[in-house]
Amino acid sequence: MTTEARGVTKRFGDRVALRDVSFSVGEGELLAVIGPNGAGKTTLLSILAGILRPDEGEVSRPPEEIGWVPQQPAVYSKLTVRENLRLFARLEKVADPDAVVARMLEQTGLADRADDELGTLSGGNRQRVNIAVGLLADPPVLLLDEPSSSLDPRQRERLWEFVDGLAREHGTSVVFTTHNVAEAERWADRVLVLADGEVLFTGAPQALHRDAKRTGVDFETAFVRFLRAQGH
Ligand SMILES: Nc1ncnc2c1ncn2[C@@H]1O[C@H](COP(=O)(O)OP(=O)(O)OP(=O)(O)O)[C@@H](O)[C@H]1O
Ligand SMILES: [Mg+2]
Repeated sequence: MTTEARGVTKRFGDRVALRDVSFSVGEGELLAVIGPNGAGKTTLLSILAGILRPDEGEVSRPPEEIGWVPQQPAVYSKLTVRENLRLFARLEKVADPDAVVARMLEQTGLADRADDELGTLSGGNRQRVNIAVGLLADPPVLLLDEPSSSLDPRQRERLWEFVDGLAREHGTSVVFTTHNVAEAERWADRVLVLADGEVLFTGAPQALHRDAKRTGVDFETAFVRFLRAQGH
């Protein structure tokens, strides 16, 4: 099932953080939201997650069906991986917390770290726990806000392979943000370019890159040129 945002506008006082933003993400699709600092990416994800209310517009799914992995997750470094998952499973009121925790440990490859304190894990494994928390209720849609920003190249690759598997094998719709736009080009089916709260482009990353490719520039350069040509 497709998930849609329609005409979403959000203001903070006089500042318009999002202006009439519409987009959709299909089942099993990876959508990257990219754009400069302050573009409104986190605000948009927070609205999809039901954390913030839009001033105008709507989201086609209730927040219960949307898993949310914020940049600063609420996990506890003094609790073990299993204790964290169990705590959040209870908070989310999942039907059988122990079974769900076991499934998540398996699915995220964390079973052998289950009884380690979260604070002792590598950044890559901590990010897996964050994602496991977002997936506890088995949501059809998963939102990831800059999930790879603190990871080394190898951990990043593992992260994206995992997320890609979720989409391809489980049919999860994934919406993520990143400043590493090469990552968006490589892993996303489509990109949504946001700048100053407005959608400048939605489509396959190749479409944004097509003209630039002929002149031999990489995606990041093409992206910056695109923004500049649009006045950003
Ligand atoms: N709670 C808030 N109160 C007031 N202004 C806010 C609030 N949250 C966000 N903003 C403003 O809304 C705009 C969009 O912010 P947002 O955090 O969504 O951008 P972003 O695209 O996620 O940026 P970054 O790439 O730096 O993470 C910015 O101008 C920001 O200052
Ligand atoms: Mg942000």
